[in-house]
Amino acid sequence: MTILLTGATGFVGAAAAAALASRGLLHQTLFLVRAEDASAGLNRLREQLARFGIVGQQLEKLSQEQVLCADMTALDTVALGPRLASITQVLHCAALATFSNNPKIWVNNVDGTLALARAVQQHAKLQRWVQVGTAMCCGPGLTSPVRESWDAGLDDDSHLVPYTHSKLAVEIALKALPDFPLVVARASIVVGHSVLGCAPSPSIFWVFRMAFALERFTCAPDDCIDIIPADWCGEALVSLLLKPSLAHNLYHVSAGVPSSSRFVDLDNAYAKASNRAPVAPRYQQVALEDLRSLVPLFEERLGRINRLLILRALTLYGAFAELNYVFDNQRLLAEGVAPSPPLTDYIAECVRTSEAIPMTEQMKHDFK
Ligand SMILES: NC(=O)c1ccc[n+]([C@@H]2O[C@H](COP(=O)([O-])OP(=O)(O)OC[C@H]3O[C@@H](n4cnc5c(N)ncnc54)[C@H](OP(=O)(O)O)[C@@H]3O)[C@@H](O)[C@H]2O)c1
Repeated sequence: MTILLTGATGFVGAAAAAALASRGLLHQTLFLVRAEDASAGLNRLREQLARFGIVGQQLEKLSQEQVLCADMTALDTVALGPRLASITQVLHCAALATFSNNPKIWVNNVDGTLALARAVQQHAKLQRWVQVGTAMCCGPGLTSPVRESWDAGLDDDSHLVPYTHSKLAVEIALKALPDFPLVVARASIVVGHSVLGCAPSPSIFWVFRMAFALERFTCAPDDCIDIIPADWCGEALVSLLLKPSLAHNLYHVSAGVPSSSRFVDLDNAYAKASNRAPVAPRYQQVALEDLRSLVPLFEERLGRINRLLILRALTLYGAFAELNYVFDNQRLLAEGVAPSPPLTDYIAECVRTSEAIPMTEQMKHDFK
């Protein structure tokens, strides 16, 4: 077995690498990395894997031969071809994962993924391609819990952001490839790490920090929020990659109903971890179109900031929060994957590892 892992210099991909490492499979893995050469690629990879606690021999034994230097949007399939021949499993995490209007989203997430998929299928005896998607590709207007289904999601411009549309479009395009062994794993919102908190990545945690600091956001206190930690996400993805047979070709890698947390419970857990009183008695739910009214509070509660940027960020994330989706994960659990720990169980680690970092600094991670 030879695994190709893409996106390992990112948040979810590195978590998947850690899950491979815990199974002793790191050295049967090739890594597609953007870098000038294999040496620079290996350095980038080691740096990121170290953030996930992979250290010592496992890190040192990684070699340049395991690094495929490539950018999905400019694949030299002739040069890359022979390096792909041994691949049996692909865990495709690489994507431009941003809620911004970055004009490269489509070329990365759709065209780049398709080019890579075609090249691997042409050169290798591919047994499984796990396509990491986003559960939010279902788009707005559905009833929660959202089912694990190909029917969820419209391939049109009804999406809140181009990113979720691109992720749905590429799933549909991959499904149409003849004899392509596709398994789609639609991940929910990934926040922190159940042991390392936000040390590997602060992605999205700043939204909670801002909501609690402002004592206002688009969530109702009883809204259930479907969030998973990166380490659990990596483990679940690797389970889907390695299990000899699977009952379905599409799964939610999500907290689902049992492991989602109510906003009010997150408030309590966050307050306890930060040694402060919960904001619940003062909390106000704000409609998306009224977030603008919070601007005068920004400087007082969030420090010196770029008001427009914060308003834009809160509006984007507030729109997703307002959907109030939980993603059903019965198919995943039926494959033997243990349920995710709820965010309330590990939020203290996220708080502890965020204390010294300004919210605006954490936010930069999500605006590429
Ligand atoms: N984070 C979440 O909450 C979440 C939720 C649901 C689904 N997902 C999915 O999980 C996957 C990873 O997301 P993430 O949060 O880990 O994002 P991330 O931290 O931004 O990592 C993205 C990874 O993709 C690589 N990449 C991007 N464009 C590439 C290209 N053209 N060629 C080669 N590599 C490229 C990046 O490489 P560089 O390091 O060179 O930039 C990086 O390794 C995505 O498919 C995303 O849709 C994430």
